[in-house]
Amino acid sequence: MKVLVVGGGGREHALVWKIAQSPKVEKIYCAPGNAGIAAHAECLDISATDITGLLTFAYNERIDLTVVGPEAPLVAGIVDEFENHGLKIFGPNKAAAELEGSKKLAKEIMEKYDIPTARYASFTEAQAAKEYIKEHGAPCVVKADGLAAGKGVIVATTEQDALRAVATIMEDKAFGDAGKQVVIEEYLEGEEVSILAFTDGKTVIPMVSSQDHKRIFEGDLGPNTGGMGAYSPAPVYTPKVQEIVEKKVLKPIIEGMAAEGRPYRGVIYAGLMLTKAGPKVLEFNCRFGDPEAQPVLMRLESDLVEIMQAVIEGRLAEQDIKWSDRASVCVVLASGGYPGGYEKGKVITGLDKVDEGFVFHAGTRYLDGKIVTSGGRVLGVTATGDTIKDAIDAAYRQVEKISFEGMQYRRDIGQKALKRPGI
Ligand code: AMP
Ligand code: GLY
Repeated sequence: MKVLVVGGGGREHALVWKIAQSPKVEKIYCAPGNAGIAAHAECLDISATDITGLLTFAYNERIDLTVVGPEAPLVAGIVDEFENHGLKIFGPNKAAAELEGSKKLAKEIMEKYDIPTARYASFTEAQAAKEYIKEHGAPCVVKADGLAAGKGVIVATTEQDALRAVATIMEDKAFGDAGKQVVIEEYLEGEEVSILAFTDGKTVIPMVSSQDHKRIFEGDLGPNTGGMGAYSPAPVYTPKVQEIVEKKVLKPIIEGMAAEGRPYRGVIYAGLMLTKAGPKVLEFNCRFGDPEAQPVLMRLESDLVEIMQAVIEGRLAEQDIKWSDRASVCVVLASGGYPGGYEKGKVITGLDKVDEGFVFHAGTRYLDGKIVTSGGRVLGVTATGDTIKDAIDAAYRQVEKISFEGMQYRRDIGQKALKRPGI
């Protein structure tokens, strides 16, 4: 088979790495890919959002399976375009991906199908949003309705912060059209967990649990990032919580989407807050998480390509998906200044000294035969262990060998898991 992977971050490196292990696969292309991906795939000079360019390539090269990593092409309708041309592609179509593309739509569907989530109100006018905030006070969470690369969510601890968030999103248009509407949510307290699941629109098979670390600094301080590290499993996700999530979140959302005329096929990602009143959905994403995909896919023992084919063909119920019992941890190494402005082109050293686990590349490229930084999140150093503690130690042993100018990372990835009794 010839496979095309769309995207060029750490998640896509994990996808390419896992797809390369399938005996069914002869050749992998990745658009645009990165320096790490280039070891397993031919990287193409086509951007992940150039749907016409991707379609032309896949059509001319007779690609057997296209796998889409990021949300932007899914929300823009890449799946519909490929399917209209008879090409097999893994991911939800435009109508289904709107579950991530519009936070307001996601809230309406959750409300309609009784899926536990934070109370909310949505606004198209800044003035009305501000009045609502003055009436309800803080803390609250202000969210741009559309896609904003993970930056459109502002957790406001004071009323003033919340009012400023509305001004930033709706008046300053910091996220462009994504901020034409805002959703204002009740602030939820608890521990977060990410549940990814495969679904063909009828059957839902959850993957192993994981936990992201969204803030830039240790102790969950500082601004939100795309994710500074992740581990799997998340011990906070007990069998009891799992049962509730499968029954009250995963099953109803897939049935609800089908009932709405938006049948969902691909990976669905539920970002959950485990509150005292039970698990509540913070968001749905229409794809693998990044960096959650790295530790989760490292634990997948089954053939990912076979699962993806079963999803596309509506045969997921036949699949028996196997996972390793080992824990896994991914520590993200980021550029100095991220998630704000940062410099690129810093030479990365020490990658050849890594002798355990795997280093997934995110923002890297080749320059004059050297691997240099080319993004905010640069590498995802990932390792497994018999316990989470062992996996943490293994990952950080490798982190110590790698360096580039300005490199920053959190030293507490996975620590929350160790604080839980019985671990
Ligand atoms: P989202 O992209 O909607 O998941 O939001 C990004 C991050 O903001 C989440 O991972 C949470 O840390 C935080 N967040 C979002 N919604 C809420 C909420 N209702 N209460 C507390 N924190 C939230
Ligand atoms: N790690 C969070 C996300 O992929 O949205």
